[in-house]
Amino acid sequence: MTAPLWKGRFSKAPSEALAELSRSIQFDQRLWPHDIAATRAHAGNLRRAGLISEVEEVELSQALDRAVEAFSGGSFRFDPSDEDIHSAVERFLIDELGDLGARIHAGRSRNDLVVTDLRLWLKDVIPEIAEGVHSLQEALLGQASAHPDTLAPGYTHLQRAQPILLAHHLLAHAFALARDFDRLRGAYRRADVSGLGAAAFAGTTLPLDPVQTASDLGFRGVFDNSADAVGSRDFALEFLSAAAILAVQLSRLGEEFVLWTSSEFGFVQLDDAFSTGSSIMPQKKNPDVAELVRGKSARVIGDLVHLLGVVKGLPMAYNRDLQEDKEPVFDAADSVRLCLAALAGTVETLAFNVERLEAAARERASGATDLAEALVKDGVPFRHAHQAVGKLVAMAAARDKDLADLTAGELQEAHPNLSLGMLELLDARRSVASRASHGGTAPEQVEAQRARLEEILGEQRSWLQSARPGR
Ligand code: ARG
Repeated sequence: MTAPLWKGRFSKAPSEALAELSRSIQFDQRLWPHDIAATRAHAGNLRRAGLISEVEEVELSQALDRAVEAFSGGSFRFDPSDEDIHSAVERFLIDELGDLGARIHAGRSRNDLVVTDLRLWLKDVIPEIAEGVHSLQEALLGQASAHPDTLAPGYTHLQRAQPILLAHHLLAHAFALARDFDRLRGAYRRADVSGLGAAAFAGTTLPLDPVQTASDLGFRGVFDNSADAVGSRDFALEFLSAAAILAVQLSRLGEEFVLWTSSEFGFVQLDDAFSTGSSIMPQKKNPDVAELVRGKSARVIGDLVHLLGVVKGLPMAYNRDLQEDKEPVFDAADSVRLCLAALAGTVETLAFNVERLEAAARERASGATDLAEALVKDGVPFRHAHQAVGKLVAMAAARDKDLADLTAGELQEAHPNLSLGMLELLDARRSVASRASHGGTAPEQVEAQRARLEEILGEQRSWLQSARPGR
């Protein structure tokens, strides 16, 4: 292979095995726009420091324009010696401009470059992912608004527990996603700090100004400590944690679509555009989107664990192990982006089977808590009320009856305060209407949640505007 940029002190070329182990160009080339932006900012820094002339800065900048053209048109020619994207861009400048190109790497290192590139990349990608989260929440809100009074069975332990509004259930997912959005926003803030100018790790003897390059690159701030700047990856870990928590949330949503589309539940139908067939069983309509989302969450969890493992034993400052930071970050971002788009489409096009949902919600035993609470309002201590209604449920089951069909005598047997009139409380719609405590499932509470979510979505939109101006 051609000799690498750092060949000076070596009398032999790197072995093929080392070169192959060392190479990251196959995955870090996607950082080219960011490497070029950082290189352009560095050229400005060199000019202000008097290390290159104004004319030379222009020449560098024009060569970088040509690099942009070559990369975006797919005609950029990699050299076998291009071990990573930073070497490739520098080598391109040297090929184009000779000695002037050879000036670009003064006062910088691949250590500060790679961390700056990755931070710039995250600043592009986090808002995209956040927008995906936003759209999924909008889709959930859309379905909740389309079903303001549809009843659904609510579950704990996946056993029917109490009737709720379908909208209440859908909004539960949306509120969880709102926190995912917020976590991504936090990750963005910590990523939004320049590392350029830390050089290898201890700064430089050259009169360069990292504060100026940070602002030229649009960063909110600059590193405080140059060793921390190149040696830390908590910003990437924070993104990965946010992505992993998000992926797990999406997986839970997916799991519900798997359950709810089965004939056993039959609560919802997927649109043909968001479901798949079987290659052998012609009748099948499968929830592959939901299953793939559930499956992808495993790799995003893996991505987080991967980088935690890489970082955990590292002494300050830069260690080459850190080259392992990019693939998990890219993989997590690609995975959640795909999942979000597919899920938003799935949710938008869901067709709920209102009759089945409401029939399941009407299962009478689901009103047992309502009966117990009615006794409490009557002055009965809750534990006694709970026992009495429990007895009633057992009695009904033993006599193969519905709770609502018990006689006055049977009610009395369970508790003297129980009367036939109280059986009206078993009505699912009435039960839902009376769960009017804060955040509960009563229609006016769910309406308040919808309004609150609208407000949150509005805040999200203004953040997205500021993080992605021009979109
Ligand atoms: N490709 C390397 C990485 O991703 C760039 C930094 C290399 N630094 C070094 N000292 N060899 O981390």
